[in-house]
Parts: sequence; C-alpha cells; structure tokens
Amino acid sequence: MGHGVEDSLSREDVLRLWPELAWIQNPELREKTTRCWERAFELSPLKPEDLNRIPFTLLIANCPTTFMEHKRCVVHIARRAAESMHEFMGNALKIDRDTVISGAILADVGKLLEYENRDGKTIQSERGELLRHPFTGVALAMECGLPDSVCHIIAAHAAEGDLVKRTTEAYIVHHADFMAYLPFKNVKFEKKPEMKSEAVSR
Ligand SMILES: [Fe+2]
Repeated sequence: MGHGVEDSLSREDVLRLWPELAWIQNPELREKTTRCWERAFELSPLKPEDLNRIPFTLLIANCPTTFMEHKRCVVHIARRAAESMHEFMGNALKIDRDTVISGAILADVGKLLEYENRDGKTIQSERGELLRHPFTGVALAMECGLPDSVCHIIAAHAAEGDLVKRTTEAYIVHHADFMAYLPFKNVKFEKKPEMKSEAVSR
C-alpha cells in the first residue's frame, strides 16, 4: 500500500473496532474520541487486529476474553447504567450520556502504550511499568482536545481513581469496568487451545 492512505486506513480500523463511537451524539466529541484512538495506534506497537486477539488483562492467567470483548462490554454496561440512572434518578443526578460513552470508550486507550509484542507474546512495556494507562490515556486525550470531564473518567476509572472525587459519569464507568473484571479473578481458566480471532464480527 502506498503513502497517503495510512490515515484513512487507521480511521476505518478504529470505526470497525468501535461501532459504539456512533452512539456519541455530539459530532465534535465523537470526532475527538475517534481521533484519540487513531493517535494511540500511531504511537503503539499494537495493530488494530491485535486487540481482537490479546487478553484484556495480563493479571488473569489464561484469560479467554479479548481486549475488545471486554472494552466493548464495559461501554455497553456503562451506557445502560447511565440510562437506568437517568430514568429513575434523573431528577436528582444529572448524567451526561455522551460523556459516559466517550469516557468508557477511552478509559483504556492508554493501554496501547502500556503493552508491547515480544516474541509473539504480549507483555507490559517499560513505559507501561512507569506510567499505567490512566496516565498515558489522559495524555493522549488532552493532546486530542477531549474535555476535562472525559479526561477525568480516564484518570479515575481504575484503582488510582479511588483517591479522586469521582463525577457521576466516572463512577458509572469505574463500576462498569470493575464488574466486567473482578469476577474473572475468582474463576480458574484452562490454557486455551486456540483463541478466536474474529471477536468483532457483529
Ligand atoms: Fe483500565
């Protein structure tokens, strides 16, 4: 493939990975959220197709769930949680749905700078050891002009965020992320014979 097509290819790849980008109603926020994933791929040794193959966490032995399966699940949970909270408690709690969705899509974007491939294995990079993905994620998001409310979700989504006074939107993404992660810690997984490679075919 020649020069000049890389940009449009990476945009296509991002849109294929993340159909949920279409849920963001504000066009400017949707564009910046998309751009942030593109930027992460520009800086990452990982390719879009790697995300349908590598496990979503290195902390669970033989984890059978892929990066994209987990990440998309979190976005779906967060959206539904935001809708239920709005339905029943919207009078008391203002919830910005676009902020929840953008923040959930970007919560782990920094992982592209936390991992690297070596000898066919996915391992934590040196940078990842020094700067976990909440930090690199915020750096990427600020570079791409995302609003502070979204950067806050990225910053506070993981355990580091327990020290932060979370917004309502950040609480939603944090709990969506952890309910899709913590159960794995109590299940033993056999070494898998073969990982499915086409997780995102829906
Ligand atoms: Fe995370």
